[in-house]
Amino acid sequence: MNAVHPASTGVDVEGGAGFRVTLDGSGASFPVARGESILGAGRRAGYWLPFECGWGSCGRCRATLVDGELVSMFPDAPAIEARDERRRRFLMCQSTPASDVVIKATKVDMAPPDERPVVDHRGTLTHVRQLGPAIAEFTFDLAPVEGVSTVAHFRPGQYAVLELEPGLRRCYSMANLPGSGHVQFIAKRYEGRPGSNRLFDLALGTTIPLELPYGDMWLRDRDRPALLIAGGTGISAILSLLRSISRDPRWSTRPVHVLYGAATFDELVCWDELQALTREMPTANVHGALVTADASWEGTRGFVTETLAGLLDTDPGHDWSPAAGVVYLAGPPPMVRAVQDVLATGGIQLDRIHVDSFG
Ligand SMILES: Cc1cc2nc3c(=O)[nH]c(=O)nc-3n(C[C@H](O)[C@H](O)[C@H](O)COP(=O)(O)OP(=O)(O)OC[C@H]3O[C@@H](n4cnc5c(N)ncnc54)[C@H](O)[C@@H]3O)c2cc1C
Ligand code: FES
Repeated sequence: MNAVHPASTGVDVEGGAGFRVTLDGSGASFPVARGESILGAGRRAGYWLPFECGWGSCGRCRATLVDGELVSMFPDAPAIEARDERRRRFLMCQSTPASDVVIKATKVDMAPPDERPVVDHRGTLTHVRQLGPAIAEFTFDLAPVEGVSTVAHFRPGQYAVLELEPGLRRCYSMANLPGSGHVQFIAKRYEGRPGSNRLFDLALGTTIPLELPYGDMWLRDRDRPALLIAGGTGISAILSLLRSISRDPRWSTRPVHVLYGAATFDELVCWDELQALTREMPTANVHGALVTADASWEGTRGFVTETLAGLLDTDPGHDWSPAAGVVYLAGPPPMVRAVQDVLATGGIQLDRIHVDSFG
């Protein structure tokens, strides 16, 4: 029998020793613990199956179930298509075996891709800094491996998948710079929702699994002007990019514009740091947009899209040229879509836009 069950069908994924995945064609096989994703188990066994986002949005890890039973850990994942079930296709990043299985993947590599050499870390929550009413910065120290201290390797702009409790996995973008023994995330608590509340409720000293790095929104084309656009906690990824740019002398003569939108000034977290960083750079500017602002606010009133439209409109071919620049964009999906529409209207080519959408 071949089947992919949604987690809600009651197929038991708890307890027990786990199952074996055999790769059709090669005969290679590896163990998968109960509740573990096939993608992660393969990686830990040295089999690098195709992947990109690591959480269910891109579809790169789609494979075919040849024999056995699987459970989908995220039945509503954006990349799942209606015809997948009929074709016995499934997402390896969000599926765990419910029996020994044989699967057919499009490709198997024995080494990680250069741009995403994902590592399975364990991180201990050591510090929480409140930044706004429901927004905080979380610092996790990475556990040493076999007594040797661990360094976080990622590119500014990338994200991690945090396993906040067994089966509760959420993505958060690194706000700090790579190369240290810790990672920092800026996150918002959403009333009544599971992932963000679990993150905010973690006690100091709690250790959780973290996989990183994922994501394709890292700096390219250092010889081109850059436009960094953040909505809400999208500032986490954008702050990491700006911190990296501010330390790199190659950026000292390139125009850099940071556009940052939030609902209120209290939620415009890290505004002082953004201003300080851009003040140090002769060719950088930061523009804020608030939906609700008091009389003292000197930036845009409204959405970040209005700031963007103004910038594209008033500066053509001068400091920021739509045809010449590269855009880095991070935030919630509605904000990302609205910004993409403005960029399209401004004639900015898709291959100049690098996006980190929160869903
Ligand atoms: C690439 C990326 C980067 C992000 N960076 C940040 C950040 O820096 N700061 C921040 O505050 N938020 C970030 N988010 C959003 C964050 O991951 C959560 O979606 C957010 O905290 C709300 O989660 P929730 O459970 O509280 O709310 P809910 O509304 O319950 O969360 C639903 C969302 O969680 C995700 N999800 C659901 N099930 C799964 C699963 N099994 N595996 C993985 N994801 C799942 C989906 O995106 C879904 O839309 C990012 C999201 C993505 C995709
Ligand atoms: S890696 Fe993107 S959907 Fe699985």
